[in-house]
Amino acid sequence: MRVLVTGSAGYIGAVLVRSLELSGHEVRGVDAQFFREARVADENTGADLRAADVRRIEADDLRGVDAVVDLAALCNDPLGGLNPSVTFEVNHLAAVRTARLAREAGASRFVFSSSCSIYGLNSRHPLTESDPVRPLTPYAMAKHRAEQDIARLADDDFSPTFLRNATAYGPSPSFRLDLVVNYQTALAVTRKEVRLRDDGLAWRPFLHVEDLCATVRAVLEAPRETVHNEIFNVGPSDDCHRIREVAELIVATVAGAKLKTGKEDHHDERSYRVDDAKIRQAIPGLRWRKRLRDGISELADFYQSIGLSEKDLTSERFNRLATVIGHQRAGRLDSRLYWAAGCYPSGNNF
Ligand SMILES: NC(=O)c1ccc[n+]([C@@H]2O[C@H](COP(=O)([O-])OP(=O)(O)OC[C@H]3O[C@@H](n4cnc5c(N)ncnc54)[C@H](O)[C@@H]3O)[C@@H](O)[C@H]2O)c1
Repeated sequence: MRVLVTGSAGYIGAVLVRSLELSGHEVRGVDAQFFREARVADENTGADLRAADVRRIEADDLRGVDAVVDLAALCNDPLGGLNPSVTFEVNHLAAVRTARLAREAGASRFVFSSSCSIYGLNSRHPLTESDPVRPLTPYAMAKHRAEQDIARLADDDFSPTFLRNATAYGPSPSFRLDLVVNYQTALAVTRKEVRLRDDGLAWRPFLHVEDLCATVRAVLEAPRETVHNEIFNVGPSDDCHRIREVAELIVATVAGAKLKTGKEDHHDERSYRVDDAKIRQAIPGLRWRKRLRDGISELADFYQSIGLSEKDLTSERFNRLATVIGHQRAGRLDSRLYWAAGCYPSGNNF
């Protein structure tokens, strides 16, 4: 299959490009390249990867592709809150536009990377795809609107699929520390502590980034009728945890790490766990191979291999909101997150 991945240089995108190529797909990628400095490995990839903003791609950029995997977004709640109107522009309007362009270009599949965070506050029972959603932030609201509007484009020749992804963790060539498991494990490795900012009772589903990419692949390769205009929770029901449990698991895994609790003003209202039955039934061959416990040990080894230091925890490099603010303060990105003249990333195969 010829697959275009938007957001191909991101945390998930960098793993997905490699994984699609290894499965024999021909991959093209576009990315605005906001997080170039977060690269920890240079991949030798045969993919055609280009710097481009999804708000400005054209039909020609999608010509000849069989499928689009739409990952490009201002990802996570803090970054999504920086300028909500830009968040809606990218995460909602540009996603719908990309889907429309994909349909016009004759792509038959469109995999949209949504998020379990659109469930918001509802942790009484594991949520199915037909439970009501309650998006609490601009990031989650934009994802929900994109799901609704892209679903309207479905027809006999165009099959969108919506993956409500769990919080990802694990190594990636384009690394992030603003994800709870990655960050807390980094704290444990570098400072020998794990820090709870509140009671830690909120629930979250978790999925290893490689298993998330395996799911995208499985959806692309599944018979059309099983995924056509379907929403799937992507995260194991039996690997949902309270934040406190995650912290305890990290302390149990990283030698010498201690759990510290501190009350901060910050209170994250989101709490949800998800039911994975629908995707398991639709794609019986799909296997999520990694459990949170394995992922934490793997991350600890990964941090040794890249020489992660305590300084990295507070630097801009692996934190999306801080990176974007840094670009803006230096005049590289404008307030609508377009590169300033002379700062636009150039070249292929970045
Ligand atoms: N990481 C997670 O835990 C998680 C969980 C659920 C859903 N998701 C979704 O999966 C997708 C990928 O997430 P990620 O963790 O790789 O995020 P990321 O921030 O690492 O990657 C997103 C990429 O999109 C690019 N991008 C942003 N705006 C763009 C624009 N206007 N034009 C072109 N490129 C643009 C960025 O440069 C970045 O490389 C996102 O849609 C995100 O909302 C992620």
